[in-house]
Amino acid sequence: MSFNVAVDGPAGAGKSTIARAAAKRLHLIYVDTGAMYRAMGLFVLQSGIDPEDTEAVAELCGRADISIRYQGGEQVVLLNGENVNDQLRTGEVSGVSSVISTVPQVRAKMVSLQKKLAAQCDCIMDGRDIGTCVLPDAQLKVYLTADSGVRAKRRFDELTQKGQDCSLEQIRKDMEERDYRDMHREISPLRQAPDAVLLDTSHMTPEEATERLTDLCREKMG
Ligand code: DC
Repeated sequence: MSFNVAVDGPAGAGKSTIARAAAKRLHLIYVDTGAMYRAMGLFVLQSGIDPEDTEAVAELCGRADISIRYQGGEQVVLLNGENVNDQLRTGEVSGVSSVISTVPQVRAKMVSLQKKLAAQCDCIMDGRDIGTCVLPDAQLKVYLTADSGVRAKRRFDELTQKGQDCSLEQIRKDMEERDYRDMHREISPLRQAPDAVLLDTSHMTPEEATERLTDLCREKMG
């Protein structure tokens, strides 16, 4: 049986940074499930259909070929055979991926892919519904969160470092909207699993949070 760690939490809590770093230390595979929903969001944008048109999104999802590869330890998302990693982390894709992730056909397809992946390898998987839906039997579940102001500032710093022009107020507004949608959708909304450990990183450096997650994993790995 594979060793699986589920990390869930709202946008900008530091899930990917911390889960990726802990996975590296522990020689586990890191699976970023948000990137899969983002790839589907990108496909919707490329196709020009309305992200709110549930039927059109479901139909498009049936034609989407989304898969994951690992190159040099890094996750690569392929959309219809093309590496789309560099196109996934824009504000536009963030918003659209949150909207289309409410569509049942989209969730069913992604969850099935993620379950298969987790059955095949020892991994840390992050997302919104990993502990509650994708990996209910994960050996460790962590709910990673931080104050919304802190999360918005982190995302702002990340984007400005990349040279993107953005406003802190707008990022905060978009993030709060996305959190609300992710937490209130009908199918597998974001919430802390009853058996998840709460990790609030508001006053932690990424190193401290990584250390804590690594320790929690080690305790379970024995
Ligand atoms: O983790 P992220 O910000 O890259 O995720 C982008 C969007 O994808 C998020 O707003 C909601 C959706 N998502 C989801 O519904 N379930 C997951 N397991 C991961 C992401």
